[in-house]
Amino acid sequence: MVGAANSPPEKPVGDRAARLSWLPRLQSTGERLLAIVGLAAFLAGTLPDLPAIYNSGLTVLCLAVAVLFALEYIVRLRQAPARLSWALSAPALIDLLAAAPVPLALALGASPGAARLFGVFWALKLIRLDPAFSLFARVLRNERRPLLSVTTVFVVVILFAATAAFVVERRAQPEAFDSVPAALWWAVTTITTTGYGDRVPATLAGRVLAGAVMVSGIGLFALWAGILASGFSQELRRREFLESWDLVVRLPLFRDLGAPALSEIARSLKVQNATADAIIVRQGQPGDSMYFIAEGEVEVRRAAQRFRLAAGQFFGEMALITGEPRNATVVAAAPTRLLRLDVSDFRGLAARQPKLLEIIETENARRRVSAPT
Ligand code: CMP
Repeated sequence: MVGAANSPPEKPVGDRAARLSWLPRLQSTGERLLAIVGLAAFLAGTLPDLPAIYNSGLTVLCLAVAVLFALEYIVRLRQAPARLSWALSAPALIDLLAAAPVPLALALGASPGAARLFGVFWALKLIRLDPAFSLFARVLRNERRPLLSVTTVFVVVILFAATAAFVVERRAQPEAFDSVPAALWWAVTTITTTGYGDRVPATLAGRVLAGAVMVSGIGLFALWAGILASGFSQELRRREFLESWDLVVRLPLFRDLGAPALSEIARSLKVQNATADAIIVRQGQPGDSMYFIAEGEVEVRRAAQRFRLAAGQFFGEMALITGEPRNATVVAAAPTRLLRLDVSDFRGLAARQPKLLEIIETENARRRVSAPT
């Protein structure tokens, strides 16, 4: 039996074919493996007393890795809609650094050992292929001003510390603190609390100064960490919002609610994926969230009854409205993308969006009549 619940969407939600495509994943795995093989060859090539046979083998391997990356660069360049702007982008520059230097160095007559050293750029490929790279780059871009301010304070503190150390220590240790530039090394190792011990303050004033520099260093690092952490959390929230907004605006259920309401709804919903046959809610358990189906299909199971709900429909609303345990088990009938609305957000949203509450309550009442508990 298929439940005739709220109407399904008129157009398909999401490009499933693109999402399921395995080719890009295979390609990035291949690129990663290639970079790792190249890096291993470059590292092995720096070992002393390497037999000549391995030496030329490693050079051929490094050259092969670089040539494959070069071919990949050419293909990407040809496929880019705006070639110049692609070529100037950070990922493209990394691709170029992975492809060009080794063969170029060999062509210009560098020794194989020296040419292989350019293989260190393959490490950048690993960063470029990391899905979190764009997130990290964006956080750095967003937070560049506060990060720059803290860096400036850092430099100023180092400069003052070095000058103060020069003033209080130069008489006691003229060879270690004979100039401010020489004291700068001490200031850097002290503020980072590295303390190599090659330059140690001998006077009481110098030790008090060292303590103050160490404490201020910890404070400045904490500031950096705090800026980055809040930048990451803001960016993740923004991405989450965009992802759920993208799905929310395409659901007919929300279509007539208007942009401000949609924006509030998108902020409250969390995207959740369910694999086929995964149990999403279990009969008899307390309910703390309801779900909107963005893509895929679920099956509602209650005793011998079976109801199918498709994209555009929702479930899990009964427990939120009545406060009773879940009256059915809901299972993903296919890989399904859900938008989850937690009970606290449901209450706030219901209070501010009476139209949405009305739609949910009407459907809930219809379900109760069509399949009474
Ligand atoms: P809830 O009781 O919170 O959890 C199980 C969910 O299954 C329930 O909310 C409804 O959303 C859904 N459900 C129960 N009965 C029906 C029905 N007759 N038609 C469609 N969905 C139902």
